Amino acid sequence: MRPPVSLERAISKAGAASRVEARAWVAAGRVKVGGRIVRDPRRRVDPARDRILLDGRPLPARRPIYLALHKPKGTVTTRRDERGRRTVYDLLPAGTPHVVPIGRLDLDTSGLLLLTNDTAFAHELASPDYHVPKTYQVKASSRLAEEALDRLRAGPALRDGPTRPAAVERLRDPGGRTVFTITITEGRNRQVRRMVEAVGAKVRTLARIAIGPLSLGALPAGASRPLTASELAALRRTIAAGPRRRPRGAAQSRSRSRRPARSYCCGMRSSGRWKA
Ligand code: URA
Repeated sequence: MRPPVSLERAISKAGAASRVEARAWVAAGRVKVGGRIVRDPRRRVDPARDRILLDGRPLPARRPIYLALHKPKGTVTTRRDERGRRTVYDLLPAGTPHVVPIGRLDLDTSGLLLLTNDTAFAHELASPDYHVPKTYQVKASSRLAEEALDRLRAGPALRDGPTRPAAVERLRDPGGRTVFTITITEGRNRQVRRMVEAVGAKVRTLARIAIGPLSLGALPAGASRPLTASELAALRRTIAAGPRRRPRGAAQSRSRSRRPARSYCCGMRSSGRWKA
């Protein structure tokens, strides 16, 4: 039988590196399998049976890591930026094992970003199939009438299709601009900005303040911290409470898909503290 994974994937799954780094390390002759240097990153290996050494040492035992980062505006959610801009990785403490961001925030969006080496968890939290609510605080370019907020609640149509219903709450209208929170359960590219444009305004500032039951709280901009066990358990419960993944094309249960996400997020926005 064909061994289960490519060598580059075995290294990245061990949490030692990204796929790109793993590929480079293999090509550079730093990796041995069964005592021999292997330079083909696509070579199939069985991590449970094959002895894989990186620089002469076994791959580190994989310890799952879950981090919360307060991404500041102006940082990119990628490992490297060809334009030399600061990335979210530049903000993590030195020595942080390889982690990937769960979803992404635009350059100009600030707020809560989770990073992990648990790829299954990352997929479930980010995938629209699991309906995990994400709450944003928005400052619009103008004052939005209640009718515009109702259109956001209903889910305006975008060029890639209608959006799901959203929970929207007006907070205040300083200087003729509306500040509101919006909770969505998808995560399409620039979704909140496009939704706001669809109702005739622009986003001036955008910050993600919660993911499911986890709020950004008082974490300073640029700082990160590990999630607590109870925060992680609460996120897992949120994933489990969402609709199960369905095969492509299967009909959605209307009652679930039309339910606004509000109930997931209430009571945690203004606490100013981390709360599971
Ligand atoms: N919606 C956006 O428009 N931008 C983000 O960064 C996240 C959600």
